[in-house]
Amino acid sequence: MSSVEIEKKDRIWRPFTQMLNAEAPLMVRSGNGVYLELENRRKIVDCISSWWVNIHGHARPEIAAAIAEQAHKLEQVIFAGFTHEPAENLAERLLTHLPSNLKHIFFSDNGSTAVEVALKMAFQFWLNAGEKRSKFIAFEGGYHGDTAGSMSIGQGSPFWNTFEPLLFSIELAPFPSTFDNDPHVDEKERRSLQRLKEILEGGANDIAAICIEPLIQGAGGMRFCRPEFLKAVRKLCEEYKVLLIFDEVMTGFGRTGDWFAACRANVQPDLICISKGITGGFLPLSVTACSSEIFDGFLSKDHSKTFFHGHSYTANPLACAAAIASMDLLEKDPTVFTGMESRHRAFVKKHLSNHPRLIQQRACGTIFAAEIESKEGDSYFNSIAPVLKKQFIEKGFLIRPLGNTIYLMPPYCIDDAVLEDAYKAIAETC
Ligand SMILES: Cc1ncc(COP(=O)(O)O)c(C=O)c1O
Repeated sequence: MSSVEIEKKDRIWRPFTQMLNAEAPLMVRSGNGVYLELENRRKIVDCISSWWVNIHGHARPEIAAAIAEQAHKLEQVIFAGFTHEPAENLAERLLTHLPSNLKHIFFSDNGSTAVEVALKMAFQFWLNAGEKRSKFIAFEGGYHGDTAGSMSIGQGSPFWNTFEPLLFSIELAPFPSTFDNDPHVDEKERRSLQRLKEILEGGANDIAAICIEPLIQGAGGMRFCRPEFLKAVRKLCEEYKVLLIFDEVMTGFGRTGDWFAACRANVQPDLICISKGITGGFLPLSVTACSSEIFDGFLSKDHSKTFFHGHSYTANPLACAAAIASMDLLEKDPTVFTGMESRHRAFVKKHLSNHPRLIQQRACGTIFAAEIESKEGDSYFNSIAPVLKKQFIEKGFLIRPLGNTIYLMPPYCIDDAVLEDAYKAIAETC
């Protein structure tokens, strides 16, 4: 590569990338449905919905049209003292699908910030009530984003060691990660609940909230837990009077086979964080929704009890219009997400059930995952990941293992033939 090319390659400092030896990124010309078209006109199947956002596939015309129409009316307006129809409509629509105890919508623009807002709300809720509770409980393997607060509660992940001196301290509990026919799941849940109980017994008065990725820990390796566990955590929260935050940034909008993991598990959190699929992958937007109890805790003539948080692009009208169009699509045909788990299971049975290296196979809603048995053990930094990623691209699939965890999280429009091809590629490559 010439120095000019190298200079060009390095002009953009890329996310989560060691730039010293980074390969030049693939240039994408366009997207259409499940396909991405590369510079050389080669098409690859986006089996991970591009960082888990494009739930309807790429360039969905209904969403593109909604954004264009909105752009001709109102592209952006300050959201303090002003409002607009797309935000009002979206809030109303979201509340019809979120757990029924959640009554208030706070907008921001990415998943990390939705979590940051939930943490600040939980902390200040108690402070406004005269209690200083500055600790949170989170789970080993959890990923909640890369702002300071979301990194703090993500200290169970290997990413944030560098930033440790900047983070607030938390309590960590084991996540009872499970898979199909797991003989030890009861014991794992018992240990996790035991640890939670110990922490709460040791000082629930210091704990503002428990924060969990419900049903599936995403970046931590598509680790599943059972609905029963979430129910038990909810019970502990009630017993010890601490808040429960569900980080549904990844699991929201059908990913677990229902609108939200909270709905599938039938558990009501006090706060929920959603983003990623909200606009169908068109524009950045996120929401932190909360119960009336939390909202009411901020109502006061005392200025210091106000929730001082907001961003320049809060509730951007284009993003809200995209989200409404995306919800229209989901409401029109929810079977695209309710019906995908059985499709996954059928192909797993056909192509992977006797696979010699793929263990701990599991499917939940629109997601399939398994571990590749490896001498290096289970780790995000397992050297198998970049090798496999390259091989999949060569075969025409965007499949990006998380360490030795292989997974599929395709757009909901993927048809059976393409989904089966992805399974065949996994069977051959792993
Ligand atoms: C569960 C969860 N929470 C929060 C985030 C952070 O979202 P964002 O990357 O939009 O800031 C992610 C991102 O992967 C996530 O999976």
